Parts: sequence; structure tokens; C-alpha cells
Amino acid sequence: MSATNTAGAIDPSATLAVRARGVRKVFGSGALAYEALRGVDFDVAQGEFMMLVGPSGSGKTTLLSILGCVLTATAGEVSLFGERIDTRKERDLPLIRRALVGFVFQGHNLIASLSAVDNVRLVLEARGTPRRQSRAEAEELLARVGLADKRWNRPGELSGGQRQRVAIARAVAGAPPLVLADEPTAALDAHAGLEATELLLEVCRERGSTVVVVTHDNRIYHLADRIVHIEDGHIIDAPQETP
Ligand SMILES: Nc1ncnc2c1ncn2[C@@H]1O[C@H](COP(=O)(O)OP(=O)(O)OP(=O)(O)O)[C@@H](O)[C@H]1O
Ligand SMILES: [Mg+2]
Repeated sequence: MSATNTAGAIDPSATLAVRARGVRKVFGSGALAYEALRGVDFDVAQGEFMMLVGPSGSGKTTLLSILGCVLTATAGEVSLFGERIDTRKERDLPLIRRALVGFVFQGHNLIASLSAVDNVRLVLEARGTPRRQSRAEAEELLARVGLADKRWNRPGELSGGQRQRVAIARAVAGAPPLVLADEPTAALDAHAGLEATELLLEVCRERGSTVVVVTHDNRIYHLADRIVHIEDGHIIDAPQETP
């Protein structure tokens, strides 16, 4: 993505992985309208490992979905790596998402009928990696997350921690610059949760990916470069010294 604006000058916002200003999200309309995000200002530096923390219903998944180009904001500005995404057409969002974002979900969301290799391979092929190469890359990634011997197993034949490792391999497949994880340790015990988060941190660092993890799990807070708190659709931390 470009680091310069149309005038050719260096755009300072391009140094940020995520820049959100005044982001609002209203679900529904009329009497049923609900404002889940109420003017969110939010920056994530490139390469940062950031945790987003807040009570249930505070808007964490909504915010992550907007950053991940799954939902559009009702109002406000959102840039990823210096490029505005809020001004893009809704039909462009899947393309942007595929190019920039890898996801780890709470329930891992792996395809039950496919082996670990094929679950990871699917993402690589969607990003345009040729079939033969995608298999080699998927196998390599699964070895990296400690699952070389389980790579041909299906999700149902893996433990919760192993499934989450496959989900991590899938999220970083193709080295997306932004990795978003929504409560990735929720289904894991303390030990497996910590291990999975450490692994996510390591593989993202190796690839230079920026990471935002939504979590309630205070056993993993110490791994974050920074923790941001959200409540009732507002970020409650003091604003950062960024433009
Ligand atoms: N599609 C939707 N339609 C209507 N309301 C929604 C929709 N999605 C979310 N909301 C509402 O927006 C608010 C924020 O939801 P969100 O899922 O972002 O919360 P969260 O912080 O992720 O909570 P949790 O920790 O329970 O996952 C909630 O009050 C929720 O009911
Ligand atoms: Mg949520």
C-alpha cells in the first residue's frame, strides 16, 4: 500500500496499521436502532501486539469486524496502512480483507470435513497462491505451530488447543499485514490459552504482522504491547500522541 499521499508527501498516517476516527456503528433502525460504537478513536502502530478489553456488549466484536472489513461503519474514518477503507464500496471490502487481514475466531471456525492442511491451504489459494505451492506452505505453517504430525487430521480429531493452533496457522497464511483475533483463548484452559497466544505473538512477529486481540482473559494481558479498554461503545483510555 502506498506510503505517500497524492501530493507525493509522506503521509504520517501510513505509519499506522490502523487509524480510526469518530467511528460509529448503528444496528437496526427506528425504535430498534442501537448504537454499538459511539465515536471510537483508535490507533494501532505497525507491528504492535495490541489487546482490546471490555465488558460483554461493549462493542469489541463490532469494532474488530469493521477493522476486518466484515462490517462497514455507519460514520467515521477508518484507514488500514494509510488507505481509507470507509470510503470504499461495500463490494470491494472482501478483496481488501483478503489482501490485508487474517482472522482467528473464538470457535476456531475450521471446516470440519477438511484436514488441517486443507483448512490452511484454502486461505492461501483464496489469496492466489498456486495449488502445489499452497500445500507446501500449509504444511510448513502447521509444522511451525507444532502440528507436523497432525497435519492430515480433521478438526474433530484434534484437541481444542491443537484446533486453535490450526486457526493461528490459517490466520497468518499468506502473511496478512493485520491479524485480528476475537477471544482466541475463550475455549481453552489457562495453559493452552497462554501457549496459543504466545504462539500467535511469535508467528506474527516473525512475519511483521500487526495484531489486535479481543480478550477477557487476564492471564494473557502481560503479552500485549498495549491494552486498550472499551466500554459502551467508547474507548476509555486517554488519547494517544498520534496525528
Ligand atoms: N447485528 C446486530 N444487530 C443488532 N445489534 C447488534 C448486532 N451485533 C451486535 N449488536 C449489539 O451491539 C452491541 C455490541 O456488540 P458486540 O458483539 O460488539 O459486543 P462485544 O463487546 O463483542 O461483546 P462480547 O464480549 O459478549 O462478545 C451489543 O449490545 C449487541 O447486542
Ligand atoms: Mg464479542
